[in-house]
Amino acid sequence: CWDLEGKRDLTGRKVLITAGGTREPLDPVRFIANRSSGKMGYALATEAVRRGGQVVLVSGPVELAPPPGLAEFIRVERAEEMAEAVLSRAPEMDVIIKAAAVADFRPVQVAEQKVKKGDGDWVLHLQKNPDILAILGARKRPGQVLVGFAAETHDLLANGAEKARRKGADFIVANDVSRPGSGFGSDTNEVTFIFPDGATISWPLLSKQEVAARIFDQIVQLLGEEE
Ligand code: CTP
Ligand code: CA
Repeated sequence: CWDLEGKRDLTGRKVLITAGGTREPLDPVRFIANRSSGKMGYALATEAVRRGGQVVLVSGPVELAPPPGLAEFIRVERAEEMAEAVLSRAPEMDVIIKAAAVADFRPVQVAEQKVKKGDGDWVLHLQKNPDILAILGARKRPGQVLVGFAAETHDLLANGAEKARRKGADFIVANDVSRPGSGFGSDTNEVTFIFPDGATISWPLLSKQEVAARIFDQIVQLLGEEE
């Protein structure tokens, strides 16, 4: 179980991972973003390549170099671009992990010219983005493993189980972003796997690379059960 170097248990598997946050433009110079660093998603991609997977990484703008050995690297900005990149490739994937922090809302209107200060306030009107994980869940084919993430600041277990059920994920990797050492920007993460039936597996504080290894151990087990 600790022989991380030797494991090639994703050989022949197609794995799609989303990473980083999305950016929703307001005008040519401004956008709405979030605190995702992309580190967890990139750690997952690195681990999947190491284990022999054919890995597609769909990434929002992050300050990380794509890991070597990817089958495909797709850079996106807006949530709708991410949705297009993911949904067009989803049918052929064995494993899909949605580690990206997708913007829940986008501006109703994107100004073509830079918005000037003028003399009034700027009132933003935001509309909901498509929920990529929920769409993937609805379209999930037998044998495909779908994993979501949930960054929560309260009621982690209840929110996580509800999210797994509602979105059709095999499990959700939940972390309490209000805890030290967990979440945005950190190199470590303290996560709990939450299954749709409410079962949980809690891990101690680990490096994001070690968390990635535990996630793929769980995924490989699920892939084995579905065969
Ligand atoms: N997700 C997605 N598309 C969205 C929003 C979220 O695919 N438009 C995915 C995320 O990538 C993550 C999971 O859904 O894997 C949970 O994201 P989270 O933000 O925790 O949940 P939401 O359903 O957006 O609920 P809320 O933010 O209100 O807690
Ligand atoms: Ca959200």
